[in-house]
Amino acid sequence: MTKLTRSKTKPKDRIKSLKKRLANAEHNLKKKESKVLETDKIQEHLDETGSKVAFMPNDGPQTDFLAAAEKDVLYGGAAGGGKSFAMLIDPLRYCHVKAHRALILRRSMPELRELIDKSRELYPKAFPGAKFREVEKLWNFPSGAKVEFGFLERDADVYRYQGQAYSWIGFDEITHLPTEFSWNYLASRLRTTDPSIKTYLRCTANPGGIGAHWVKQRYVEPSEHNKTFEGADGLTRKFIPAKLVDNPYLAEDGEYEKMLMSLPPIQRKQLLEGNWDIAEGAAFAEFDPEIHVIVPFGIPAWWERVKAIDYGYASESCCLWGAVDPEDKTIIIYRELYQKGLTGEALADSIIQMEQEEIKSIGGVLDTSAWAKTGYTGPTIGEILQQRGHKLRRADKNRLAGKVQIHEYLKQSHVTGRPRLQITNTCINLIRELQSIPLSKTKPEDVDTNASDHAYDALRYMLMSRPRLDSPYDRMLDLKRNIYEPADGDFGY
Ligand SMILES: Nc1ncnc2c1ncn2[C@@H]1O[C@H](COP(=O)(O)OP(=O)(O)OP(=O)(O)O)[C@@H](O)[C@H]1O
Ligand SMILES: [Mg+2]
Repeated sequence: MTKLTRSKTKPKDRIKSLKKRLANAEHNLKKKESKVLETDKIQEHLDETGSKVAFMPNDGPQTDFLAAAEKDVLYGGAAGGGKSFAMLIDPLRYCHVKAHRALILRRSMPELRELIDKSRELYPKAFPGAKFREVEKLWNFPSGAKVEFGFLERDADVYRYQGQAYSWIGFDEITHLPTEFSWNYLASRLRTTDPSIKTYLRCTANPGGIGAHWVKQRYVEPSEHNKTFEGADGLTRKFIPAKLVDNPYLAEDGEYEKMLMSLPPIQRKQLLEGNWDIAEGAAFAEFDPEIHVIVPFGIPAWWERVKAIDYGYASESCCLWGAVDPEDKTIIIYRELYQKGLTGEALADSIIQMEQEEIKSIGGVLDTSAWAKTGYTGPTIGEILQQRGHKLRRADKNRLAGKVQIHEYLKQSHVTGRPRLQITNTCINLIRELQSIPLSKTKPEDVDTNASDHAYDALRYMLMSRPRLDSPYDRMLDLKRNIYEPADGDFGY
C-alpha cells in the first residue's frame, strides 16, 4: 500500500516539476528571443546609421557635445537637458581601442550611483561583452579599454589619481567643486601612449553651486557660447549651453518643466533657463539683462542728464552717467568710468574728458570722500569739477534706502513692461555688479560690502538723488548759463 501510494504520488510530483521546468525553459527562451530581437534591432540601427554606438544623441547641444573636437568642453545649463546622459556616452568614442582609459567623476560616491546604474543599461548594449567590476567601479571592454568611476570629495582626493594616466576625464556637475585646483590637477593626468587616441576633458553643470564662479570664468565668460577659444593655459575650450527643450525625453510632457517653474526665482532661472548670470544669494535676483540691458542709442540732446561718482584710490573709482527719458521718466545709464589708482585730479580730468561731447555740463552727486583731501597735492575731485562748472551735491549715502530705490527702479511697468532703469551694454562693470553682488550674510537687508560694489554705490547715489526732469523753462535757463557759481563752495549748491 505504502509502495502504491508512493508510486501514485511520484508521477504527480514529476509532472509538477516537469511543468515548472517547462515554464522556466519557456521563460528563458523568451528572454533569449527578446535579447536576440533587441540585438537585432541594435544591429539594424548600427547598419543603418553606420554608427558604432547604440545610442541616438538628441539633436542640438547633446550632438554638439559628443562631436566637440576641443580639448576642454563644458556642457552646462538647464536641468534635464541630457547632460549626464551625454557624459556617459562620450567616453565610449574610443572604447574599441585597447589603450583607452576614461575616468568619470562626481563630487561624492552616492552621487555616482545614478550614473553607474545608467551605464549598466547602456554600455553592454553598445559594447556586448563589456563587464563591470563593482568593487573597483570599473568597466572592462572587450578591446581592453577601461572606463572608471570615481569621486572627489575633497581637494586632497585628487592625489588618488597621482601617477595614473587617462585619455578621457569627465566631471558630471563640476560646479560642485569649490575650486579649480583639482580640475587643473586632473588635466595633468590627461595623456596616452596611443597616438591614435585624442585626449579630452569634459564636464557638465547646472548654473549655481559652490564653484559656479570659477566655472563661469573658465568656460562661460571668455567667449561667445558654442565658439572655440583658447584658454590662458593653451587648451582649446568651448561652452555648450543646454536647455530642457533640447531633451525630448523629459521636455515633451511638460511635467518636469512645471516642477522647475515652481522653484523660487533664483533656482528657476538657473535650472529652467540655464542662466549663468545669476549668483546664489544675489541681492538683485530680478535684474535681467534681457529686460534691463539695452543697446546704446543716440540719446536726444534735450534729455536731462545726471552723473554719480563713487571715489576710491586703492579700489576703483566709478562714475555713472544717466539720462532721463522724458516720455516715461526711465533712467538710462549710458556711460561708466571704472578705474583704480586715480588721484582726485586724474579722476576729474577723466570725467571731463569723457564729457567732451556733451553740450552742457552735467550735474550730479558725489560720494563725500571725494570732497576730502586725499593726501595728494592739488585740489580734490569735487573742487576741480566745481571749478569747471559742474553742479555737484553731496550723495545721500543711506545704504538701505538706496538698495530699496534700486529695487523700485528695476520693477517693470505693468502697462509697458519697461523698467524705470535701463543700462546700455557698454556699462559692463555696473551690469556685472548688479548680477553678482550678494546679500550680506550678517545683515541680509543690505548687500555684502566685501564684494566689488563701486558701480553699485554710484548707482545708489544717483537714484537717491531722485533725478527728475526740470521744467522746459529751467532747462532753457540752464543751457544759457555758461558758468555755474555754486552758492556753497564745499558742496556746490
Ligand atoms: N539621447 C538620449 N537618448 C535617450 N534618453 C536620453 C537621451 N538624452 C537624455 N535622455 C534621458 O533624459 C533624462 C534626463 O537626462 P539627464 O539626466 O542626462 O539630464 P541632465 O541634463 O543631466 O539633468 P540634470 O541637470 O538634472 O542633471 C534621463 O532619463 C536620460 O536617460
Ligand atoms: Mg545630470
